[in-house]
Amino acid sequence: MEDANIDRHAETRGEKTTVSKDAILHSALGMIGNTPLVSLERIHPGPGRLLAKAEFVQPGGSVKDRAALRIIQDAYSAGKLSPGKPVVEMTSGNMGAGLAVVCNVMGNPFVAVMSEGNSPARARMLESLGAEVVLVPQVDGAPGQVTGRDIEKATERAVELAQTRGAFYVDQFNNVSSVLAHEAGTGPEIWEAVGGEIDGFVAAVGSGGAFVGTSRFLKRRKPSVYCAAVEPEGAEILAGKKVTKPKHIIQGIGYGIVPPHWDVSLADTTIAVSDEQAARFRKELANKEGLCVGFSAAANVCASLKLLSSGRLGASPTVVTILCDTGLKY
Ligand SMILES: Cc1ncc(COP(=O)(O)O)c(C=O)c1O
Repeated sequence: MEDANIDRHAETRGEKTTVSKDAILHSALGMIGNTPLVSLERIHPGPGRLLAKAEFVQPGGSVKDRAALRIIQDAYSAGKLSPGKPVVEMTSGNMGAGLAVVCNVMGNPFVAVMSEGNSPARARMLESLGAEVVLVPQVDGAPGQVTGRDIEKATERAVELAQTRGAFYVDQFNNVSSVLAHEAGTGPEIWEAVGGEIDGFVAAVGSGGAFVGTSRFLKRRKPSVYCAAVEPEGAEILAGKKVTKPKHIIQGIGYGIVPPHWDVSLADTTIAVSDEQAARFRKELANKEGLCVGFSAAANVCASLKLLSSGRLGASPTVVTILCDTGLKY
């Protein structure tokens, strides 16, 4: 059988092929974090660099794996959770997948409460990870387009269920561990990978964990790092605009609410991306870079290019963004 840990081409390059002790992980949890930073030089040959953090390579397939791990770890440390106790969360699918992975390894049953509007591929993935999936009918959204009111309804159901089951309720929109996961993980990883050479950071906002935590760390290290929050066009609440288009295809972000984690002092600007632009960049990422990712990842790349071409960051800036989830969930 092929050993995945051995680089078969290393010998021909004259490198040693010994597998280090660290090559063996103790569980799937070891696959969370330390994601690669990929240069998107076919989409952006320059001037400057566009680097993308490939969050979709984690076992739950998205950036939310980090928040899931940190939330469960912190709940154990605080004595709020112990093996066997159920865990409940309202999720658009990605947090649920991360929680399913973490809960399986830790020995906690997991119940995912989802709006019916999220893609069926997400519910299937959760079920194949052994999670109990509770689907909540939509209030005013449509399939593939989940609104703030749909999220509210699903949240109510999740809170109810957590109470009746005596479960730990994750509450990602209010749980600060989600921000800390990025402040202690994503931010430092980016900083180290670029050796401090970073001018801009661009990220889409759902609960705000990724944007707030990462920006907070980067700005602490280098206050001039220009941080841009990405919103769907027509649902630009963070830009202070009225929400005119609550239904959009960029799942996982843009619920038309200012999330509780939001910290306005970290956002130097907001950038809007339309459904058409997100769909176009999703294809570009696949066709030019070989990266099959979701709509929010594509929106991040589109917004990063808008920032790079604005000239705001100087002649040859480095911009880092997030590839939030795998395109296989759509
Ligand atoms: C596909 C996708 N992109 C982006 C995000 C935004 O991440 P955050 O909640 O950290 O703002 C989410 C969150 O669920 C998501 O599912």
